[in-house]
Amino acid sequence: MSKFLINGGTKLSGEYSVDCAKNAYLPIIASTILCKEEIILKDCPFFADIDNMILILRNLGMTAERKGTELYINGKNAYQSYIPTELAKVIRSSIFALGALLGRFEKAKVAYPGGCDIGLRPIDLHLKGLRDLGVKIIESHGYIYCDASKMHGGQVYLDYPSVGATENLIMAAVLCKGITTIINPAKEPEIVDLQNFLNKMGAKIDGAGTDIITITGVEELHGTEYRPIPDRIIAGTMLIAAAITGGSITVKNCIPQHISSLYTKLQKSGCEIDVKSDCIFLQSKDRLDSISFLDTMPYPGFPTDLQAQMLTLQTVCKGYCIIQENMFESRFKFVPELIKMGANVRVHQRTAYVSGVPSLLGADVFATDLRGGVALVLAGLCAKGYTTVHDIYHIDRGYSHIEDALTSLGASIKRVE
Ligand code: EPZ
Repeated sequence: MSKFLINGGTKLSGEYSVDCAKNAYLPIIASTILCKEEIILKDCPFFADIDNMILILRNLGMTAERKGTELYINGKNAYQSYIPTELAKVIRSSIFALGALLGRFEKAKVAYPGGCDIGLRPIDLHLKGLRDLGVKIIESHGYIYCDASKMHGGQVYLDYPSVGATENLIMAAVLCKGITTIINPAKEPEIVDLQNFLNKMGAKIDGAGTDIITITGVEELHGTEYRPIPDRIIAGTMLIAAAITGGSITVKNCIPQHISSLYTKLQKSGCEIDVKSDCIFLQSKDRLDSISFLDTMPYPGFPTDLQAQMLTLQTVCKGYCIIQENMFESRFKFVPELIKMGANVRVHQRTAYVSGVPSLLGADVFATDLRGGVALVLAGLCAKGYTTVHDIYHIDRGYSHIEDALTSLGASIKRVE
């Protein structure tokens, strides 16, 4: 199993250009099921999750081929609406295909999704919303059987602004006769990007990023070319990598407003921050101040996907920090690995109590999930001595050869197969 060998202590310095967003690309790829013409997606990152979503499309009978940095997709020959367990269980976003399958075929048989082990990851909001639109759903033997022959436009109120449920319902409604409104949807930038992509294919969607999304059903979608938005979580991760090593970085090709909840906190900690239209410059210092409190919230609040990276930074800041993880019940699984490195953290249910120490010490640690795994890499970058991060397949799901990016910024890190 591959692992990272890291020799900590180097202050990162340099420029980094952000890839397109994993969490924009995945629902966009799923939504191509709705179209029978060629679609070209630009700057397709080499994330494992994207490769797994491509396999799902091919299993449906579609073509999906990487050609350099572009992804060519054509749904013309899609002939089935079935996603087997072995494909569905690998990624959470397999469930995003459900809405698109119902929009295209008016029926689907989909196995329960997988994804990062950061919590139960229920799909009740997805299914409740689809039932509100007239979809008949039976859950049996690990599969979700859907009959959307009588699906209709309607109103769906989401009890919680679930990202995936919002995306699923948008995709189910795009080709559905009538008008569908989603009340209390997720407002993440990736939802707005999905709306923009689908509208470019001829859909009629309005309101993404606000409290009400309206979808007016259309007959069909046409092919297009599209470049999804930059990955705000990778942008934030790289800012924190420079901050934790006392270095500096210019993060280019990003949308600063998407991570204003992060850089404002880094500024408060003592980082010098300079924000331009598509890049952020950060200059850290030897030891930052703790931010005292952090609450993960739906967008535009602080993103849960940057919690592990921020918690790791807090372990070497001056002072104390209380971190409340409101989104997922098991998003502190990486903390015992940080404690092996000398971090002073106590976890009680969804709250972590962090007391900053002057420095961490290198150790053998094991990635538990995507963002917890990359947080351990950040810990290794600033720790004294050598750190080995095992099970890095978790990290490859959402970062494309992160060791190359960090090496270009001066880090001493290498992948060992
Ligand atoms: C998306 O997951 C992202 N994944 C996650 O990123 C991200 O952490 C999350 O949104 C929140 O921003 C992708 O986009 C592929 P949710 P999703 O539905 O859609 C509860 C990463 O690291 N919930 O908004 O699964 C759920 O348990 C990944 O890139 C229900 O109760 O997130 C959680 O507590 C991790 N019932 C909360 O809502 C449901 O039917 C937020 O989940 C659905 C969700």
